[in-house]
Amino acid sequence: MDVIEAITQRRSHRGEYENRPIDESDLSSVIEAARWTPSPFNVQPWELILIEKSEGKEVLANLTEKAIVEQFKDAKFLDDNSVWMCLNETEWQERGDGVLLADHVTLPKLLEDGTNKITGNILKGLLKHAKSLTILGHLGAGKIPAKDISKQVRDSPLLVLVTMNTNRRPPGEGGTRWMWLSMGMLIQNMLLAATSHGIGVQFVSAPLEKESDRDEIREHFNIPDTHEVMTLLRLGYISSEDGKSVRLDSSEFVHFDKVGNKDN
Ligand SMILES: Cc1cc2nc3c(=O)[nH]c(=O)nc-3n(C[C@H](O)[C@H](O)[C@H](O)COP(=O)(O)O)c2cc1C
Repeated sequence: MDVIEAITQRRSHRGEYENRPIDESDLSSVIEAARWTPSPFNVQPWELILIEKSEGKEVLANLTEKAIVEQFKDAKFLDDNSVWMCLNETEWQERGDGVLLADHVTLPKLLEDGTNKITGNILKGLLKHAKSLTILGHLGAGKIPAKDISKQVRDSPLLVLVTMNTNRRPPGEGGTRWMWLSMGMLIQNMLLAATSHGIGVQFVSAPLEKESDRDEIREHFNIPDTHEVMTLLRLGYISSEDGKSVRLDSSEFVHFDKVGNKDN
């Protein structure tokens, strides 16, 4: 697969994966893509933990479930989320950013049709008053998505914990920033290699939001204090390239010579 094709065809895969392990050669290729990531002073600060056994998956699945239930009770989190939630595909395409509500929350059947005027208005009202959703959260509304996502984590053929070894910090005041940048590049290299092999990847951020959860992960997986737990990825083969996504037009973020100048 051509690089540009991999970049534009890659999607976040939030659905199920095929029930088979990642082939050794495909996994080696994803790791090789990670290995060749650029980093400041070539410090190569990454360490990856590949989790194929059920014990580790269980720990991460349980933490994910717990974290999502808590998020549904967190007014600020829900409010911040609502800003980036689109009710239906038309709104999403028009905006060119954010995520589709239905991709992230299993809506009750009655509310599934975000294009319908009545359900659309109900959803809009809910998002506008996202804080009030915490009441639903306290009544256990987060339990369904939490269970769904944790099951996906548990059932994924492969989980990868991406960590950054801060002992490998490059010199200079900006050292930590440059290290973080290269960690992003590492992850993108992995995503693109995975895409080229028909492997879907999803970020699972919920169990890494809170320091106490990251500490639990550190303890279970023998990750030293010197290592930042950056992200959790779940990977597996996908049967079809079904994921949709949107982006802003390049004119929204490209400037010529000075910010605000849109003509070259
Ligand atoms: C750092 C980071 C964290 C993310 N966390 C999550 C997550 O927890 N759950 C999820 O479904 N997607 C997550 N995503 C995926 C984004 O939602 C996704 O990249 C964006 O909506 C664009 O969609 P696309 O990747 O399919 O083009 C994350 C992406 C990044 C870069």
